[in-house]
Formats: sequence, C-alpha cells, structure tokens
Amino acid sequence: MNERDAERLAGGLLNDGWRLAKNPAEADLILVNACSVREKAVNHALGRLRQLFSLTRKRPHLLFGLTGCLAQHLGTEARGMVPRLNLLTGPGAIKRLPVLIKTLHGPDDFAVDLDPAVDLTPDFDPESDYRSAHPAIGPHAAFVTIMEGCDNRCAYCVVPYLRGPEVSRTPEVILAEVEYLTQKGFSEIILLGQNVNSYRSSVYRFPRLLREVSLIPGVRRVRFTTSHPKDLSRELLEVMATGSTICEQLHLPLQSGSDRVLRAMGRGYTAEHYRKLVTQARGLVPGLTLTTDLITGFPGETEEDFRLTLDLVKQIGFDSAFMFKYSPRPGTRAAELPDDVPPETKQQRLVKIIGAVTESAFRRNRELVGEALELVVEGTDRRGEPYGRTRGGKRVKLPGELLRPGRVCVAEITGAGPRSLTGRLVEA
Ligand code: 5AD
Ligand code: SF4
Repeated sequence: MNERDAERLAGGLLNDGWRLAKNPAEADLILVNACSVREKAVNHALGRLRQLFSLTRKRPHLLFGLTGCLAQHLGTEARGMVPRLNLLTGPGAIKRLPVLIKTLHGPDDFAVDLDPAVDLTPDFDPESDYRSAHPAIGPHAAFVTIMEGCDNRCAYCVVPYLRGPEVSRTPEVILAEVEYLTQKGFSEIILLGQNVNSYRSSVYRFPRLLREVSLIPGVRRVRFTTSHPKDLSRELLEVMATGSTICEQLHLPLQSGSDRVLRAMGRGYTAEHYRKLVTQARGLVPGLTLTTDLITGFPGETEEDFRLTLDLVKQIGFDSAFMFKYSPRPGTRAAELPDDVPPETKQQRLVKIIGAVTESAFRRNRELVGEALELVVEGTDRRGEPYGRTRGGKRVKLPGELLRPGRVCVAEITGAGPRSLTGRLVEA
C-alpha cells in the first residue's frame, strides 16, 4: 500500500510538470514516503532524511518532504527530528500534494496537510502515474486500490489510527480503472486494501468484485492483498478456484499460533480456525502459494505461546513470511501493556521462526523442480539475468536467457533455494 502511495505521489507530480531525478544528488525535491507500522521503519525513514541532508552542501535550495503514515503519526513534531523539513503530508493528502508544493518558495518554507480525508475518485491519469516503471512489480503489472483504511483494532496496530476507517471505492471506479489499465497494456492487476475481505460497496462484496475484475478482457493475472483470516470466506476461495486469471496466491497473516495471544491481539480467530481455513484453501485451490505475517514477543507471550506458534508454522508449511519483533506503537491498546518480553528473547524467537519458515519455503520450492510453469518476465537482476514470476508469485531466475520484461513464457524449474527458483525456457 505504501508503494502504491509513493507511485501516486510521483504520478501527481509528473502530471504537474515535475521530472524524476536520476539520483538524489540531482534532485530539487526529495520526498520520503514512509510507513510507521513498526518502530524500525520509523527509525529507518528518519535516518534516511538526516543522511540525505548532507546533499544541501552542494544544493542549498534542496527541499525535503516527509509523506505517508509516518508523517501522519509524527505530526509537526517531525520538524524537530530532522535538519530540514519543508513538507509534511499524510496518506489522505496525496492528490493535494502538487498544489501544496506550489506554496514552497525556499528552503525555510514549510507546508503541512494532515487532513485524513481520502479522495476515492478516479486517480491521476494513470499514464503518468505509472510512467516510472515500478521496481517491486514488473512493467506489465499495476496496483489498483479497492479500499482505504481499516476498521479492525488489532491491539498492536497503528494503521486504523493513521489511515482512518474503512472506505471502499465504488465498483464502477475500480472496474473502469482496470479497463483503462488493460487498454494501456497492463495485463496483471494487484488489488490492494488493508483487509480486502471486508470490501463493501452497494451490492458488491469482494468475491464479486474479484470475479468481475478477473473477467475484463486483457487481464491475464489478478492478485490481491491482504486477507484477514477472520473474514476469508468459502465463496472467495471458490471464486479463486474457478477464475482462470486469478492467481493461486494468498497472503493470510497469522501473527501468532497461540489462542491466548490471538485473543490478546484481538484478532478474532483461533489457531484451529486458521488451520482449517488453510486446509479448505489448499483443497479448493491446488498449487496455492501461502504466505503470512508473524510477530514474536507480543506482551505476555510465554515460551509455551511461542512453541504453539512455532509448531503451527511448521505444521502449515508456508511458502514465505514477513516476520517481526513486536514493537509498541503509540496510541495502540498493546502500548498500554508492559512490553515484558526481553529484547534478546524476542530476537531468539524471531531467529527460530525464520528458521522454520526458511525450511518449509525451501521444501516447497524443491517440490516444484521438474515442473513446467508459466512465467511473466519482470526484469533483470544485478548481473543482467532475467527473472520471471509464477502465477503463485514465486520468483524464477532464468540465467542465460534473453527475454524482455513483460514477456510470457513457460520454463522448466531446474533448481530451488529457500527464496527463489531457477528455470530454463521451454516455450516462448
Ligand atoms: N510490532 C511488530 N509488528 C507489527 N506489525 C504491525 N504492527 C506491529 C507492531 N507493533 C506487523 C504485523 C502486520 C504487518 C504489516 O506488520 O505482522 O501484519
Ligand atoms: Fe492493522 Fe489489524 Fe487492520 Fe491489519 S487488520 S491493518 S493488523 S488493525
């Protein structure tokens, strides 16, 4: 979601006559669009702004902006945390940014817009919006936001406070945006929302929206993120199973495998419910790639709680996971609880859980060796070798092949590591 916001910020400025600098040293304006979901991301973003300030020695008029949910979170106090700040805007202000920037005339000026009201109308002309090829996804793929905000109140999470309540964009706007994108040549659509399963607009719920997006001519692949385990329905899995363009990929954040911790987190499901969901999903969608998010060291997490998480993670066998040490976030319910798991314990548990996920990821990747899979080429790595992505979202290196990004091909999987696969072209 943050990546998409950065893209929209860039799109608005490009539309308004700005150009992308080749590197920060050539820029007149530097925006750091940052997330504040975890403390580590906050420190990283502020550190980056401080470091970039050294560029003002050669470019004294360089302007700096902090945008996104971190700006919303810090408010005007952010000005005191970095050497220079000229612009401070929250996630709601993306479309207002080009106008706001016009009020800045020199390095001492400061403009702020933390109004959380999001604009759900059609986006900036996506042509300029997507002009800079997105590094996280291939040039054939485009993000489409279907909803903003979140109505859940997971005890550790700052998102509902910074991105506001759930609001869904209308199906008319979403379907028109997807049609426009396919006419521009984008064949892969990635639907975005904090909790896509609670999408709701007129008579539409997420399964119907997903099906209609998947049927638009020109759409070859559709993915979506994120699904909340408490809201994932059988109907959605059935739509995934029958929609030929809907990719076999599900990101389903587990967070913990202990019912006690899940209850304290306010997640609204049990470990058993999650396990059954996975069985159902794998039964309906063969070849499903399943990924998750996990937190170690939530307040009160005992060795026994952690063992339950580790056991469940091993039992399920994820294809990959984002794993984090718990950090208290101001304003959340969990921040009121004692942060009582010592840092070394959080770290040890993190290392163990990373080990378990790496093992299952490696095992599941090895099972694909010998199979012929459809790939879309996304780009080339540092050595100039192309890589593609499977329908399940796995990255496949294609050493020695000459393939343009966006190209569709079939490759035989010849090798597997925990994080990627290697393949050989069998069919262009
Ligand atoms: N501490 C650690 N991890 C967190 N996440 C969200 N808030 C916190 C926090 N306070 C993680 C969750 C979520 C992902 C986006 O970030 O795992 O799914
Ligand atoms: Fe945060 Fe929970 Fe909403 Fe996800 S579902 S954004 S973890 S409050």
